[in-house]
Amino acid sequence: MSAHPTPAPDGARVGRPKVTVPDVRAAKHAKLPLVMTTAYDAATARIADLGGADMILVGDSLGMVVLGRNDTLRVTVDEMVHHTRAVTSQHPSALVVGDMPFLSYHVSREETVRNAGRLVQEGGAECVKIEGGRKRLRMIGALLDAEIPVMGHIGLTPQSVNAMGGFKVQGKVLEQAEGLLGDAAALAEAGVFAIVLEGVPAELARIITDDVDVPTIGIGAGPACDGQVLVIHDLLGLTSGHVPKFVRQYADLGAQAVAAMSAFAEDVRSGDFPSREESYAIPDDVAAALGTLVSD
Ligand code: KIV
Repeated sequence: MSAHPTPAPDGARVGRPKVTVPDVRAAKHAKLPLVMTTAYDAATARIADLGGADMILVGDSLGMVVLGRNDTLRVTVDEMVHHTRAVTSQHPSALVVGDMPFLSYHVSREETVRNAGRLVQEGGAECVKIEGGRKRLRMIGALLDAEIPVMGHIGLTPQSVNAMGGFKVQGKVLEQAEGLLGDAAALAEAGVFAIVLEGVPAELARIITDDVDVPTIGIGAGPACDGQVLVIHDLLGLTSGHVPKFVRQYADLGAQAVAAMSAFAEDVRSGDFPSREESYAIPDDVAAALGTLVSD
C-alpha cells in the first residue's frame, strides 16, 4: 500500500505498522495498489519487508526456485512449515501468507484445518492461500470456521499442471473465462480476503477485478488487478533458465553474485585474500614468546 513510508536506506528495521488481513481487504476500496512478493527464508523476508512489500507469500514455488524441482507438486507441509518459520523469524511488518501445498487441502475438512493450522501455529503464518475455485468452497468454509483467513488463487494454478497439460494461460476461450468469473465470485462470496489471478488475459482480469469486492492480486494478469505479485527470485534476477514474459527483472543479482564469487576465487588463488587488515593480530610480545616456544 503506497501509504507506507519509504524503507530506511541503512538496512534498519522499517518502523511501519503491521499489515493485517482487514488492511488488505480495505486497500481495494481505498484504491491502494497492493504489493506482494514471495520469500522463503530470513534473507529474502528481510529484503521483501525492507523493500516495502505489503504481503510476503511463502509460496510453494519454493519447490522450483529454492529446491530445484520442475514443479510444485512434491512440496510437503513440513517443508512449508520450515520455510514459513524462517520467514517469520524476521518479524516482518508485511502480512505473511502461507501457501498450502498440493494434497494438503484436498482430502478432508479436518486434514485441511490441521495442515493450515500447522502453517499458522508452527510456521507463524497469518493466513493461508489455496489454489482452485468452486471445488474448494467446503475447505474454505472449514478454514474460516477455524478463524484462519484464506487467500484464493485461480487461473494458471501450478498445482494443476498435469490437469492443464502444462503451465498454460487460462481463460482464453469463452467457457474457461466464464468459469473463472464464476470461480472468483464464489470465492469472494465464501469469504476469502483476496484472490490471486495467475496467467489470465488482462481483459478478463479487469472484468473479474471489477466484479468482486475483494482485492485481486495479479501475476501474468495485466495491470487492472488491485495488486501484483512476483516471485522474488524472478524480480531480483536470481532465476536461471526460462523467465516468463510477465516478469520484470528489477536487478541482475545472479550475474552480480557470480562476478563476486569469481573475484573471491581469484583473490584466494593469488594470495591476495585475506590481507593483514582482514586478519586478527596478537601483541608483538606474545608473538615473540610464541616464536621462542616453537624454536625451543
Ligand atoms: O507459490 C507461489 O509463488 C505462488 C505465486 C506465484 C502466486 O503461488
